[in-house]
Order: sequence, then structure tokens, then C-alpha cells
Amino acid sequence: MPLLEVRNLRVSYKTYRGVLKVLSGVNLEIERGERVGIIGESGCGKTTTMRAIMRILPSNAIIEGGEILYDGKDILKMSENEFNSIRRRKFAMIFQDPTAALNPVFKVGDQLIDVLRQSRGDSGKHDRDALKDEIIAAFKEVMLPDPERVFESYPFQLSGGMRQRVCIALALLTAEELLIADEPTTNLDVTIQDQILRLIKELVDRRDLSVILISHALGAVRGLVERLYVMYAGTMVETSEVNELFRNPRHPYSRALIASAPRLTGGGVSQGIRGNVPDYLNPPKGCRFHPRCDFKTLVCELDPPGFFPAGGGGKVACYLYAEVVR
Ligand SMILES: Nc1ncnc2c1ncn2[C@@H]1O[C@H](COP(=O)(O)OP(=O)(O)O)[C@@H](O)[C@H]1O
Ligand SMILES: [Mg+2]
Repeated sequence: MPLLEVRNLRVSYKTYRGVLKVLSGVNLEIERGERVGIIGESGCGKTTTMRAIMRILPSNAIIEGGEILYDGKDILKMSENEFNSIRRRKFAMIFQDPTAALNPVFKVGDQLIDVLRQSRGDSGKHDRDALKDEIIAAFKEVMLPDPERVFESYPFQLSGGMRQRVCIALALLTAEELLIADEPTTNLDVTIQDQILRLIKELVDRRDLSVILISHALGAVRGLVERLYVMYAGTMVETSEVNELFRNPRHPYSRALIASAPRLTGGGVSQGIRGNVPDYLNPPKGCRFHPRCDFKTLVCELDPPGFFPAGGGGKVACYLYAEVVR
């Protein structure tokens, strides 16, 4: 049984323009100890998917359907209490913006002690000095200089890189099973992006965590994950072993995305692919990529394709591969 399995997840957002049908049936699986990456243009629903897993969707989000199975149990059906103990002890998420993850009005150390206490619940030790020792040790692990001073600082007194290290330290103190890192380096200075990704890799290695990494730094993704998902307009269009995906991308969107990879540095990836991610108010019927696809046939405009096995353990949501099966 996979550690986590997202099945046909559909999420919309209510807005003044109407209902945006963003996730149109996301399927994603992660085995215990496995590391997967997700790549795709911005606006494809990567963050929405991760927020759904953590049950931290914004209040205008509507879960239209689907399941998120953790150890076979649907997270979406759990009570707040039941899920809280998973969120606090088993899962952790590192966000793109480390500033938003920290409360500006409390000292870093006090916040972390608070989170640790919650995470440990009734069973853990709550003694302030002991918790502080753990936090200082974690700060050292993430190579924060002068950990005692960081502990006593307010978030604004730290640089962006230091704040992200604090968030990584916190994630590592609380995640027993799954680390979700959503563009953890996008907001950081380029000179420290590699350092942070290397740090994440080292720490998940040591702790044997499952990982979902979302990043535009394809080189780093390659070094950290075993398998990749390619996401387009609210659905996963392909999954393959990471080197295989770079060598032999199969979905027409994956091909275009990988072909435009050298241009990924600007954050946007659409330069290499004509057209844009669709408007979610009225997304295309059938395969959502069909208006941008050079290979589309009639059926592509009618029904969204499910995953077809495509060799090497890979799966592709494209009718081109339905023919391979036949
Ligand atoms: N709270 C929200 N209200 C309305 N639309 C949203 C909200 N959050 C995200 N969206 C929209 O959902 C789509 C997917 O966003 P997101 O999940 O952040 O994608 P990604 O992480 O792949 O860039 C985007 O079009 C975005 O504008
Ligand atoms: Mg995002």
C-alpha cells in the first residue's frame, strides 16, 4: 500500500468571476521512503494539490471530489483531531515563502517551542530547556550560524535564506514520514539555492523521509528525487523515473517542457510552448492540453485521457499511448 495516494482529486475556487475549476482529477502516488518531484508551469495546480494534502486550502476552495489516502485512510474524511495528529507528527511542508510561514510578532525560538509542543501532543516531553536543546541542535544541523542568536531573534531580523533554514529545521523536527517542499528555493538568492537543496537532500537521506519536491531547478530535482510527475492545468499528465523522463519525455506537454528546460531559469516555462495555461473558468473539454497540442485527434477534445502504461514503469495521460497498448 502506498504511503499516500491521491485519487481523482478535483478542487475549484470560488471567485468574483465565477467558479475556477482548477484540479480536474489529480492522481498521485508515493511509496514509503520514495521521493517524487512535480514539475509544470506556474498556475498548473501544484500548490493547490499540496495544500489539499495538508488540508490547508484557502477558505474559497471547494473540494469537488476525490480521495487522499494516507495508509489507506481518506484524509478528507478524517475529523480535524484525527488529521491534526498526522499533520503535526507525520507530515511537514516547506513553503516557497519562508516569511509567511513564520509569525512576525513572536521570537523564532518561542514559535518553534510552541509548534514542537503541539506536535508532541500529550505524549512528548514539554520541558522548555529540553525542547530548546533539540531546536538548537536542529539549527546546527541546517548550518545556521550562531543558533543561540537565531533562537532569540524575530523573523525580520533574519535573512530570507536563514528564515528558510529555520523552516527546514522545524520541518525536520516534526516530520516523521513525509516532507513536502513547495518551491523551497524560488524566493531565495540564486547563490544559496543550491546550498538549501543540498541541505534538504542530506537531511531527508539521513531521516529516510518520503519527499514531494516541487521545483523549477531541474538539475536539483534530478539529484534529489527518483520519480517525476509532470502536471498540466490541474492534472498529472505523466509520471516516469526521473532520468527516463529527462531522456525520453512522452506526453507532448512533457516533451515541450523538457525542451524548454534551459529557459526555465526565469521562473516561467511557457516560452518554449505556444499558448497558455487555460482559464479555469471555462477550461477546455477533454484533454486540457489539446488546444496547445500538435498531436491532437478528435477523441482528445471529448474525454480526458486516464493514465496509460508507457513502458519502464512510466504512465502517460495521452491517447497516443493508448495505441501503444493496443
Ligand atoms: N485562493 C485562490 N482563489 C482563487 N484562485 C486561486 C487561489 N489559489 C490559487 N488559485 C488559482 O489556481 C490555479 C493554480 O494555482 P496553484 O495551485 O498555485 O498553481 P502552481 O502552484 O502550479 O503555480 C491558478 O490559476 C491560481 O490563480
Ligand atoms: Mg505553487
